[in-house]
Order: sequence, then structure tokens, then C-alpha cells
Amino acid sequence: MFEEGFGFNQTLDRGQDHEYREQVEIELLLEGMFRVYGFDFRDYAFPSLRRRIWHQVYKEQLGSISALQGRLLYDREAAERLVETLSIPVTEMFRDPTVFKAIREKVLPAIRELPAIRIWHAGCSTGEEVYSMAILLEEEGLLDRSRLYATDMNLASLKQAREGLSSLEKMKQYTTNYLQAGGKRSFSEYYKVTQEGKVEFDPRLRRYMLFSDHHLATDKSFNEFHVILCRNVMIYFNDVLRDRVHQLIYDSLAQDGILVLGSKESIHYTAVRSRYEEVDAQERIYRKVR
Ligand SMILES: C[S@@+](CC[C@H](N)C(=O)[O-])C[C@H]1O[C@@H](n2cnc3c(N)ncnc32)[C@H](O)[C@@H]1O
Repeated sequence: MFEEGFGFNQTLDRGQDHEYREQVEIELLLEGMFRVYGFDFRDYAFPSLRRRIWHQVYKEQLGSISALQGRLLYDREAAERLVETLSIPVTEMFRDPTVFKAIREKVLPAIRELPAIRIWHAGCSTGEEVYSMAILLEEEGLLDRSRLYATDMNLASLKQAREGLSSLEKMKQYTTNYLQAGGKRSFSEYYKVTQEGKVEFDPRLRRYMLFSDHHLATDKSFNEFHVILCRNVMIYFNDVLRDRVHQLIYDSLAQDGILVLGSKESIHYTAVRSRYEEVDAQERIYRKVR
């Protein structure tokens, strides 16, 4: 009776369960990452988080999640390597070209009369999305009135984004994407090949960009924007964090501001859904209406 009342046996049973122990290990590791370095992955979707943490355990040639935790707590570089693994910095120029076509045709006309246009790329990774947007704005005659705020929590990605470098092998795919996105010029006008054989995007595009680190899970709103792109970022969050970040984005949008999500993301099933109307449901473009 005494033991049952305290759930003592229950706790012991759960404690013997391997999955439960593994979950505790992961939670402790995430707590350490947050308390020591401020990187907050505590509300990321669990299955992919678990997979990636194990991937890192093997990469660091360790035998357990607890061993990884031990290393992270005392080794900032190891913690940064985990951030790199968890942040999934996959991106490309004009990724999902039809969304950029829709931005050109449906979003830019609605903001063209503004004296100053503020756009936030939340989770910009290595910057390809920002450079794509700058090209669109340039071709629509809006770039010199625009400021593109590009943020990410991954410092290595941000550094690369600031440099505006890419590789020559990617240009074929990027040219195809650009044309499918309704590009009006020759894509090669926007980059030059450096002596080292790399590609450098036109530095003129960069003049209108501001790069900064910003953690969507912990940092606040820092301006009011006419357009926010947060693409392929929240798919890695659980429902709690997704709702929190949607609220942050909502608070950061001007009235009639535009939100652009990734192709597998949606405003449905979020707490802010009734505050937006669809601009292009297929392309996941929404307008803040209330
Ligand atoms: C898959 S990339 C998407 C890049 C770009 N938006 C696109 O769609 O091509 C996801 C990016 O989100 C960033 N990210 C993930 N969680 C974040 C957070 N809590 N705060 C800020 N950035 C985050 C990652 O570092 C990564 O660069």
C-alpha cells in the first residue's frame, strides 16, 4: 500500500525501460546545452533530434549520449559541432522556384508603394534565400528601398552568408531555379568566379542585407517587418515551440504583412491561424489581417 501510494514500483519499472533512460539522457544533454551556452533545442521534434544526437555521438567517436553531454559541457567547440548537426543548414538559391515567382507576382506589387521595405529571413542558413530575394527586388526596382534582415542561430552559416560565396557546380541548378522563378536576366549577371574558382555573388546585393544571430526559441522580436520568410525552420520544432515562434512572427509583422513558410509547412493547426488570410495557399504565403 505504502509503496503503491508513492508510485515507487512504477518509477522503478520506468527506470528499467531503456527508452525512458535514453529520453532522460537526451533531456539532460539539451538542458546542459541551454544552461551553459544558451542554445535551446529543448522543444525540437523528438524523433529527428534523437537521430541527430546519436549521429553526433558516433561522429565524436563516443559510446553514449551521456558521454557526449560530458564533452559538450566543457568543450565549446564540441557544443558548436552539435549545433551544426542539429541546425540542418540545407538551402539553395530560389529553392522551390514557384514560391519566388508567387512572391514576385503577388507580394511585391502589394508592397511596392512603401517608402522603406523591411524583410526578415528568419533561419536564413548560408544566405541563398536572402540573395534570391535581393535579386527579385533588384529586378522589380525595389532593392534600393529595401532592408533584408537575415538571422540564424548557426554562426558558421551566418559567416558564410555574409561572405556571399558559393561553388561553381551549383550554378547550373541555380540558373534553372532562377529561370523557373521568372528571372528576367541572365543569372550569371549576379555572380563572378573568383581566382580560387569559387563563386562570389554581386556585392551590390549585399549592401542591403543585415546579418545577425538570433535564436527563435529564446530571442524576442526586434523590428516590424512587411515580409517575413521563415521557411523550412519550424518543421524541426514540436507543437509548443512552433506556436511560440508563430506568435513571435505575428508580433513582428506589420498590419497586412506577409508570411512565407516552407512547402511542407502551414499556418493551419497553429494558434494564430485565424489572424491570417491566404495569399497563395499552394505556395504557403499568408497575409496578417487581424
Ligand atoms: C533547413 S535551413 C532553411 C534555410 C532557408 N530558410 C531555406 O528554406 O532554404 C534551417 C535553418 O534554420 C536555422 N534554425 C533552426 N532552429 C533555429 C532557431 N531556433 N533559431 C534560429 N535559427 C534556427 C538553422 O540553423 C538552419 O540554418
